[in-house]
Amino acid sequence: MKRFIQQLPKVELHLHIEGSLEPELMFELAKRNGISLPYASVEQLKQAYQFDSLQSFLDLYYQGAQVLLNEQDFFDLTMAYFKRCQANNVVHCEIMFDPQTHTARGVDFATVINGIHKAQQQALTQFNISSELIMCFLRHLDEADAINTLDQAQPYKPLIKAVGLDSSEMGHPPQKFERVFALAKAQGYRLVAHAGEEGPAQNIWDSIELLKVDRIDHGVRASDDERLMDYLQSQQMPLTVCPLSNTKLKVFEHMAQHNILTMLQKGICVTVNSDDPAYFGGYMNDNFEAIADALAMTRENLIQLSHNAVDASFASDERKHAIK
Ligand code: ADE
Ligand code: ZN
Repeated sequence: MKRFIQQLPKVELHLHIEGSLEPELMFELAKRNGISLPYASVEQLKQAYQFDSLQSFLDLYYQGAQVLLNEQDFFDLTMAYFKRCQANNVVHCEIMFDPQTHTARGVDFATVINGIHKAQQQALTQFNISSELIMCFLRHLDEADAINTLDQAQPYKPLIKAVGLDSSEMGHPPQKFERVFALAKAQGYRLVAHAGEEGPAQNIWDSIELLKVDRIDHGVRASDDERLMDYLQSQQMPLTVCPLSNTKLKVFEHMAQHNILTMLQKGICVTVNSDDPAYFGGYMNDNFEAIADALAMTRENLIQLSHNAVDASFASDERKHAIK
């Protein structure tokens, strides 16, 4: 099965570029930029990667991102992720980035997006890996900050396919961003939002009905609501599920309890993704292997998961045809 997973062409739809910052690169960038980290070594940092909730992870994730200062840093980070894509036979990916994590520290929006974009161009020519960018708003910040970020993105609109919503789900429901999502939609962006990761199924309904998203990121709590499960199936609303993330953040205690196979067998458009692979212990192949092992999946299940990701992607019809 391991070989089968390796050779299966894959599409990744839920990946935070800041979450692909490996400890080794974090230390290298800290040194390059004269930033001191509160860890003596890579090993000590890795020891700290033990989480009991989404927030316990986010605290380290935002701390780690502070080593990213210059365009070259964002380029190196993104290129390192594309090398993992190549090794994992990922042929298309949709990369999330959190501009507010950087602009709040005085890093220009242009620095962030130019570094990422240059790596996207190189990945296309060097590896034939296509990609799109998803700009996420941090939901623990206020609406005005999100609107300001949308304004800052204006000159780079052709480089950004979609907007999304991430960070702390508890206490920051979709309603808070109804107006900014309406503005983004009017500007022609596709829309996604994290919902039903730790938060209730109602957040999935509200992301669909109020934010009018094209996809739900995570969405695993949908299984608490039978009517929602039926709706997701009938509408073929994609869920970008992240198995290793869910066990690391204790959404499920064990992978054997994960509901991705149940949802797949119900005909829901579920996909497999790595979320923050440097923090959760695995890239795409590791995520596929983890669910294939724990849930005794068939090859047909894995092919269906991969086809779902092609269908749910924001790639052009031409590109979808080429990779399916
Ligand atoms: N930002 C990075 N990873 C995230 C996750 N899994 N949930 C919410 N926000 C995030
Ligand atoms: Zn995520």
